[in-house]
Amino acid sequence: MPRNDFKQSDLPSIIQGGMGIGVSSWRLARTVAQRGELGVISGTSIDSVVVRELQDGDPHGRRQVLQSYPDEDIADHLIDRFYNPEGRSEHEPYDLLPIHQFTPRPKSQRILAAATYTEVQLAKEGHDGLVGMNLLAKLKRYSLPCIYGAMLAGVDFVFIGAGIPMEEAKQIPKLAAGEPASLRLDPDTSQADDDVLKDTYTYDLDPADVLSDPPSLARPAFFPIISSDSLARIMDAKLPDEHVDGWIIEGPVAGGHNAPPRNKRYDGDTPIYDEKDVADLGRIRDLGKPFYLAGGYGSPEGLQYATNVGATGIQVGSLFSLAEESGYPENMTKRLIRGLHTGDVSVDTDGRVSPTGFPFKVLTLSGTHAEDENDQRRTRICDLGYLREPYVDEKGRLLGRCPAEPVDDYVRKGGDEEATKGRGCLCNALMANIGLPQYRDGSPELPLYTGGDALLNLPLGSVANPSYDAGDVLAYLYGDTPALAHAMGETKDETGT
Ligand SMILES: Cc1cc2nc3c(=O)[nH]c(=O)nc-3n(C[C@H](O)[C@H](O)[C@H](O)COP(=O)(O)O)c2cc1C
Repeated sequence: MPRNDFKQSDLPSIIQGGMGIGVSSWRLARTVAQRGELGVISGTSIDSVVVRELQDGDPHGRRQVLQSYPDEDIADHLIDRFYNPEGRSEHEPYDLLPIHQFTPRPKSQRILAAATYTEVQLAKEGHDGLVGMNLLAKLKRYSLPCIYGAMLAGVDFVFIGAGIPMEEAKQIPKLAAGEPASLRLDPDTSQADDDVLKDTYTYDLDPADVLSDPPSLARPAFFPIISSDSLARIMDAKLPDEHVDGWIIEGPVAGGHNAPPRNKRYDGDTPIYDEKDVADLGRIRDLGKPFYLAGGYGSPEGLQYATNVGATGIQVGSLFSLAEESGYPENMTKRLIRGLHTGDVSVDTDGRVSPTGFPFKVLTLSGTHAEDENDQRRTRICDLGYLREPYVDEKGRLLGRCPAEPVDDYVRKGGDEEATKGRGCLCNALMANIGLPQYRDGSPELPLYTGGDALLNLPLGSVANPSYDAGDVLAYLYGDTPALAHAMGETKDETGT
């Protein structure tokens, strides 16, 4: 049964955008979905989130959820291997999962699928609202197991940004049918023999490796997150009509990663955007599919504008990231809200820090990696590896390297030393953001917070009362049409759609 058989008029006007790692937590997505809008969890690094939570005594009840997971062996393995009822002692390092390889072990895939299942299942519990999952196209190794685990939990939507998710669009129906799926990797083959063909490298997932008898599953609706109308038109032309259900059009003021400027111009490390970076919405509209605007539209006026230009609504991240239900620890959320109101915290666009090479919005909070000295003090180590890029070594092996790993290692793996300059370890920093930092010699990894320009004039919370919840964000977004908004909320709650 396809899950993407919605009518455009059934779609909510607000999508709470997916925010990794763990910022758009199941709690946030569930709250938003319960209110009749679309709540989105992040699949990024969710396996590491789950094994760290298990080591911290399982505060979110993942073990309970794992009881309904159809791959009992892997559910038992996760609990036996990682669950610690007393939690870790203070400053004790977390045990890590083996890094997920480009030629993956089925066990890593099974763990990732099970972890994703728990997050979606928790987000969907207790209501009939809509829940989606967000992934990054750059992180190719993780997409298929995440999508499969999310589908086993009945995810309604999949959103993929940070790259061109053309291949992913074709694989979702295969996974839904229980068939093997495959994503083409694009490794650097410059060290390999001349006869190595780039397009022979793939990341494969066979549902039969996850479940002995893979069922037929509902296919979630698929919305690529893109920044340009030309990309939408290319995808539309190259893909069968039913593979893409709609678009999220995201501009460069959004929180998280942004598309690089099309003119390739930078002022130091800061990208310079111009009119070329503005998507032609008329052309998107002409494609005839629902679309949402993201990046600076998180206001009543933004929602109104979106409706006026023919969009179904808006995707909002930054405002939700600081809501009580987000994955951030309460004390950090408060520091951020207060700092944004006093002006002590600002928003920078850093074209260098992310190993992906994409510009990354940074919140300039003291005591985090936003401060250069903290960045320089960190000894480089790559022990999570989510942002590793594939390359083929001289022996023909498909391996991974990350420009934020120790420079010597990166160069030994054939990487260009220049590419390592200014890079930060987002994997460890983003785990620290949600209160799950690795400890090294008794000291925690430091966070690096992200948020969009929407936070510069934060309409919620205050210096005296630096907190708000997801309901406050929705009420603010409904804004000058409170009666309509209220009525919509009631109708949606009652029907559960
Ligand atoms: C903390 C944070 C993390 C984010 N992480 C992701 C992510 O992992 N994947 C993604 O596609 N977008 C990510 N985003 C972008 C949001 O999903 C959303 O599209 C964007 O925030 C909308 O614009 P706004 O920031 O102006 O609200 C992130 C945004 C924030 C604020």
